[in-house]
Amino acid sequence: MTQRIAVIAGDGIGTEVVPEGLRALNAAAKRFNIDLEYQHFEFGNCDYYLEHGQMLPDNWFDQLKDFDALFYGAVGWPEKVPDHISLWGSLLQFRRRFDQYINLRPCKLMPGIKSPLADRVPGDIDFYVVRENTEGEYSSIGGRMFEGTEREVVIQETVMTRTGIDRVLKYAFDLAQSRPRKKLTSATKSNGISITMPYWDERVKAMSASYPDVTVDQYHIDILAANFVLHPDWFDVVVGSNLFGDILSDLGPACTGTIGVAPSANINPEGTFPSLFEPVHGSAPDIAGKGIANPIGQIWSGALMLDHLGHQDAGQAIVDAIEAVLADASDSVLTPDFKGRGTTEDLGRAIAERIAG
Ligand code: NAI
Ligand code: MG
Repeated sequence: MTQRIAVIAGDGIGTEVVPEGLRALNAAAKRFNIDLEYQHFEFGNCDYYLEHGQMLPDNWFDQLKDFDALFYGAVGWPEKVPDHISLWGSLLQFRRRFDQYINLRPCKLMPGIKSPLADRVPGDIDFYVVRENTEGEYSSIGGRMFEGTEREVVIQETVMTRTGIDRVLKYAFDLAQSRPRKKLTSATKSNGISITMPYWDERVKAMSASYPDVTVDQYHIDILAANFVLHPDWFDVVVGSNLFGDILSDLGPACTGTIGVAPSANINPEGTFPSLFEPVHGSAPDIAGKGIANPIGQIWSGALMLDHLGHQDAGQAIVDAIEAVLADASDSVLTPDFKGRGTTEDLGRAIAERIAG
């Protein structure tokens, strides 16, 4: 069975790391006999915007909707196009229209990387943050009244639906159940936010009845954030609403070191629409064009994509190869963000060779 991947490199270092992501994917596909077919798209970047006045063609939805996955680099070049236009005009369109209601970020301390948390070593930090990606606190319901007067009033409503909560919880519980520790932590704030958050807690409790083998705990978001820093080893799968998940999904990877390695997935679990895989980092205009960007975030995103497409062995082989290359830590291969002298391509090739076996 051929699986079709739409590739959108985007801007800046996106165009430099995507080829290394594909190199790793090709090595894994060859070793595990996976049939991947790529189609490259030249939209979703700021040069396209300068030429066409929009980030995507009018028919982008029809062009992309039948792919099995989207492999994205990074978007944004603030000198050419304001960030809110480039982001809302591309990536956020995909997340919304393709109903990618799961935002998934692994937080794993890799060998050879120094955690900003003192004395933490690989093995201490290895968990996932699962963020609700479509509703919650990020709603467009509300408004402003009596503008500019003493009575000025501003309201924005949080929207939580049973469908919306249950589907993200189901994904998180399934993920926890698939992992050796089988532990799920829910981010809440039901002491202060007294209507929606108790409802969130209720749905967690209801869902947990279907997963008797998964251990569940919950923390209010304030102490949970503190515990990410103090006790990252406590966590296995952490699930949160859109806002809480947003914060935790930056804090978690930050605890594991350089931004260049963190991957992410925006998932439509039912497969009604394609899911999107991209590194956490942006287009890094400050180092773009020099060939020194760390390709690991992009390569690891490829591993998440293979997982999602049903090739868990191949995804694991990519993660193993990343760990093996980092553990060897040769200066001539590591990129400058690791204090090495290697190029994007040097590091990408080293990882692809490990994957090949
Ligand atoms: P950024 O992630 O592009 O860069 C932040 C810092 O980290 C820079 O100093 C950069 O050199 C460094 N860095 C990032 N990725 C790296 C890598 N792979 N290897 C080595 N160093 C790396 O974030 P910034 O500067 O805030 O945004 C730049 C542009 O990227 C903006 O237009 C922004 O809107 C966009 N952006 C896009 C994202 C996306 O496509 N999902 C996410 C974040 C930002
Ligand atoms: Mg964020």
